[in-house]
Amino acid sequence: MLPLSYRSPKTQVRASNIHGRGLFATADIGKDEIVAAKGGHIVDRKTLREQISPRLGPVEIQIDEDLFIAPVTEEEREGSMLYSNHSCNPNLGMRGEITFVAMRHIRAGEELTHDWATTDNNDYSVECTCGAPNCRKIVTGKDWQRADLQTRYASYFSAYLADKIARQSMLGR
Ligand SMILES: C[S@@+](CC[C@H](N)C(=O)[O-])C[C@H]1O[C@@H](n2cnc3c(N)ncnc32)[C@H](O)[C@@H]1O
Ligand SMILES: [Zn+2]
Repeated sequence: MLPLSYRSPKTQVRASNIHGRGLFATADIGKDEIVAAKGGHIVDRKTLREQISPRLGPVEIQIDEDLFIAPVTEEEREGSMLYSNHSCNPNLGMRGEITFVAMRHIRAGEELTHDWATTDNNDYSVECTCGAPNCRKIVTGKDWQRADLQTRYASYFSAYLADKIARQSMLGR
């Protein structure tokens, strides 16, 4: 079966110090180069919560307020997973809603991570194990609202979040 997602040939999935398995660079990757693109089925929050997460675990990425992309069967899981762990000091950002790009030059061997603040608008709160010096320790599904992160990630937010941020700043918050 063809994989549902795209992972650059310059990447490899292996054990991570952050969590479980992670995605790693096997060669240098240039700034703004495409690292991965998420594939799967487009499902709403209710379907994800009731039918997918209990069986397959955290396999989705959020692409809009109530929409997610995820595998729906065990057979599809491996080919849809990107294995990008969260980091508070990430090297990947979003282009559009499904494409992960390098936010800076990445060296071979580095773990490829993104900040959930750039993709998620959700109601969770998680203890972070990224180990970065600037680790927030607690990461929440509302971190996209933080002014410091809006400045830091600027053009690397998922498009639906970039729209929300632009609308909020037009309304003066
Ligand atoms: C899509 S998975 C990433 C791949 C995962 N490491 C694996 O082996 O399947 C996302 C899950 O990884 C874990 N995770 C990733 N980054 C994390 C972090 N910085 N702190 C704590 N847990 C993290 C959480 O359990 C999260 O729900
Ligand atoms: Zn962290």
